[in-house]
Amino acid sequence: MDKNSLAPHFTTALATRAMQVETILQKLLDERLRAGEIARPERLMAAMRYGVLNGGKRLRPFLVMETAALFGANEEAALRVAAALESIHCYSLVHDDLPAMDDDDLRRGQPTLHKAFDEAAAILAGDSLLTYAFDIIASDETDLDAATRLELVLSLARAAGPGGMAGGQALDLMAEEQNPDETGIITLQAMKTGALIRFACESGAIIGGATREERERLAEFGSAIGLAFQLADDLLDVTSDAAHLGKAAGKDAAAGKATLVALHGIHWTRNQLAGLVAQAEELLSPFGDKAEILKQAAHFIANRES
Ligand code: IPE
Ligand code: IPE
Ligand code: MG
Ligand code: MG
Ligand code: MG
Repeated sequence: MDKNSLAPHFTTALATRAMQVETILQKLLDERLRAGEIARPERLMAAMRYGVLNGGKRLRPFLVMETAALFGANEEAALRVAAALESIHCYSLVHDDLPAMDDDDLRRGQPTLHKAFDEAAAILAGDSLLTYAFDIIASDETDLDAATRLELVLSLARAAGPGGMAGGQALDLMAEEQNPDETGIITLQAMKTGALIRFACESGAIIGGATREERERLAEFGSAIGLAFQLADDLLDVTSDAAHLGKAAGKDAAAGKATLVALHGIHWTRNQLAGLVAQAEELLSPFGDKAEILKQAAHFIANRES
């Protein structure tokens, strides 16, 4: 597939989904008290908004929405799940940037949350964004039956928790000293980045009431593009700069991060990315033309410039 000839369609679709999720996130992060809440502290809410409403690509929400659309799912419900996932993703970035972790000053082209506020605010905004995600899905405003909401909560908890993203972040930090081999690096990347992207794709199948086989296929698609996503991130850390990325570049090597780019180099990484895109496309083949936009997403992830 020629990515350039297909790029406009994908770019428009991504922008549309980003606007939809931005609108709902704005509402979810307003001052209005929800049942059972006692107060929403103004500065905490401002910090949460700072960490979320700051122009991310919104790729994970896009994947939730587009995989849900494959199964003709309820779009409003998918949008709430997309917002919940983006809330967790943003928390992971806020904490990832903290001095105790990657110690970064720039995120999405702006000072990181702990720079704009302070470390306590970044920790608490992260905690709140994580917790709020489960509120958003479990709420009966998410128009899905209770069993489906429970399944989403459980899958997201597994993807974000010790056996998923947070566990992967722990392995990532340990790897600065322990130099894992290729298998170790793939495991840590499948966890720190892959797990949320896998959930994004699997959740569309859950929301849409897909068969077990379809759900497994979408999850596998998510795993393939999730690995590609982190490979591209590590490649961009080497090949790009802060002006393009909106975050620091060249820091992985300096910090001794365990990446496949460090292990195998740029050429190998580009070949690997092409292989993962082919694998992702193959996984979508049973869905035919309906999955065209998701195939484009796989290309975008591997070839992105920011
Ligand atoms: C960055 O994710 C963190 C990684 C998992 C590599 P994104 O590249 O999706 O960041 P935003 O949301 O667009 O800022
Ligand atoms: C971050 O990986 C993954 C998560 C935030 C879970 P990186 O540390 O490589 O992400 P960037 O490069 O800071 O966005
Ligand atoms: Mg990190
Ligand atoms: Mg980082
Ligand atoms: Mg990175």
